[in-house]
Amino acid sequence: MPEPTTQNALPKLADVSLFDPATLIDPYAAYQTLRDLEPVHFVQASNVHVVTRYDLVREAIKDTKTFSSKYDSFLGAAQEMMFNAAPKAVQDQLLAINAQMELAPPTMLTLDEPEHTQYRSLVAELFTASRIKGAEATVQSVIDRTIASFAGQTSVDFMDAFAGPVPLIVIAERLGIPAEDRDFFELAATEAAGALRLSPLTPEQMLHRAQVALDLQRLLIRIVEDRRRNPQEDMISVLANSKLAGENRYLTHGECISVLNQFLVAGHETTTSTFGWGTLLLCRNPEVQEQIRGDAKRIRTFVEEALRLEAPVQGLPRLVTQDTELGGYPLVAGSMIMLRYGAANRDERQFAEPDELQIDRPKAGSQLAFGAGVHFCIGAPLARQELNLGFATLLEHISSIELDTSAPAPEAEPSFILRNLPKLQVKLAWR
Ligand code: HEM
Repeated sequence: MPEPTTQNALPKLADVSLFDPATLIDPYAAYQTLRDLEPVHFVQASNVHVVTRYDLVREAIKDTKTFSSKYDSFLGAAQEMMFNAAPKAVQDQLLAINAQMELAPPTMLTLDEPEHTQYRSLVAELFTASRIKGAEATVQSVIDRTIASFAGQTSVDFMDAFAGPVPLIVIAERLGIPAEDRDFFELAATEAAGALRLSPLTPEQMLHRAQVALDLQRLLIRIVEDRRRNPQEDMISVLANSKLAGENRYLTHGECISVLNQFLVAGHETTTSTFGWGTLLLCRNPEVQEQIRGDAKRIRTFVEEALRLEAPVQGLPRLVTQDTELGGYPLVAGSMIMLRYGAANRDERQFAEPDELQIDRPKAGSQLAFGAGVHFCIGAPLARQELNLGFATLLEHISSIELDTSAPAPEAEPSFILRNLPKLQVKLAWR
């Protein structure tokens, strides 16, 4: 038998299968092969062109005329497939629930200019530097209370103890969800985020998700109406009482729901996930715990590195509006591309030693976990505030955090869009 040559050992395109569970759990080797061999790669099974190189992802994001965000149909198609596969009786119940729902039009994520700009500038009011700064004490208090709830324990599931609760309580407090509705809100927010996972559901799960979505709509409408009568110091009050530029009118119930739903889908699980991946990085690089403790600048870089290395939104689609090319690869009007933020963030053409955590990395903030251009994550200042304060406070209280090796090794949930870490069992030593 001939000796295998190094050429035989080189990764091949034919070996890349992005939807294999093993690749979904750890996609980085596949991304590397794609960046090197075919940075705009057509996946027949899902009919998308996957874009993996940093420069090409940025080029496509910036050209919103050619690469539109009106990709609702992509998300809708997955839900339609699940609906069609459900038994007739379940379909009927789903339709009955749907008929009671307020129609929520697209407001930001899946709109293009000029409509996108109208909503975006209204919502931007919620995230101004002064509002974010003004809410710092609330965020810090949520972090402190959450740490107090497991202080002294030496073994915890970090996702349950801290990473999950903090972003959920922060968004509930910032929105102004009344105390008596918190438990339901937390359940509903988690279900809403689950919709982006595009993983198959049983008919019972579909019915449950639909009912929870309806109840959540009713809760949010009740709060919007209340805040129109009695404005308070919270995000829903601002949203409910701001007027849409150019039209001089308040948002409809459906528009309010659409905006709030995006906060829930895009907002809390992504921050949870970064707390989880960041903590896993601290466990795997224990010297970093000491190096960043008490150093606000390095904590900021560490947070950007956690976002870069494990982008919580691994990718999002764009719709090609006209025949074009990207990186020399032809694309026809009507086709779909999938921007892989998670792959662009590990592109060695952009970041030296891209797989390494570097707490002094120059321009760490140029990572693409929050996207770029007109759709750049509007909640990024809130997420960064939570993450920076969260890691700083944790390290003030904890002298060391390490993986509990008696528990199963932490592993990402296999999802093509979101990169979640469901469990992270750690051992803690307190200061
Ligand atoms: C670590 C946490 C977060 C990550 C990684 C993240 C990621 C992203 C990404 C990648 C986009 C761009 C979508 C695109 O390219 O089309 C985006 C947009 C968005 N994010 Fe975030 N997000 C985070 C936190 C938040 C929070 C806390 C909120 C709100 C409370 C939020 C609300 C939104 C909204 C409303 C958009 C749509 C903006 C637009 O289309 O103009 N996100 N996010």
